[in-house]
Amino acid sequence: MRVLIVYGSTEGHTRDLCHYAARALGEAGYPTAVEPAGPDASEPDPGPYDAVILAASLHIGRYQAPLVAYARAQHEVLNAKPAVFISVSLSAAGFNPHDWEGCEDCLAKFQHETEWTPALVHHAAGAIRYSQYDFFKRLALKFIAAQRGQPTVTSRNYDLTNYDALRQFVTTFAFGVSQAR
Ligand SMILES: Cc1cc2nc3c(=O)[nH]c(=O)nc-3n(C[C@H](O)[C@H](O)[C@H](O)COP(=O)(O)O)c2cc1C
Repeated sequence: MRVLIVYGSTEGHTRDLCHYAARALGEAGYPTAVEPAGPDASEPDPGPYDAVILAASLHIGRYQAPLVAYARAQHEVLNAKPAVFISVSLSAAGFNPHDWEGCEDCLAKFQHETEWTPALVHHAAGAIRYSQYDFFKRLALKFIAAQRGQPTVTSRNYDLTNYDALRQFVTTFAFGVSQAR
């Protein structure tokens, strides 16, 4: 059984999470390919794979455009096979109902635009990489983080992801698919 992960990532955290997930899947006995979505990337054909995971992060209420375009282009295949979505965001790091509603709205927009309905969605808390942001992005993130009770000290970066939950999600998904084959 083979798994494909395709991701969109702006600062690299979602890419890192996807490689982590691929390692976890590999260790569990499910060989996994990881590919970026993007105009310069190979558009991986999900057809030959038994299970597909798409992942993207929220930036000002939107997922990465190349990943949205990929999901839209492949929605018929994705709807026809086991395919799940990992949504990475700062909103998922907290318990604020307003943030979670915002996340659900973004997800609903994503599903509407792509015409793909993921079988399951995992919300992963993202990272705050102050060192990678330019002045304006750092200011914006400080504001977004402060609103959500997240760290605003810009001299360091923060990884808010629950890796055990991510591992659990992807391996449980793959196990379920393998049992249903
Ligand atoms: C400019 C900017 C805008 C963001 N906007 C949102 C947002 O609207 N909602 C949210 O929950 N998180 C938001 N985030 C947090 C990102 O989703 C989080 O940092 C994530 O880890 C980024 O993943 P990436 O490194 O794969 O791009 C934003 C981050 C940045 C830098």
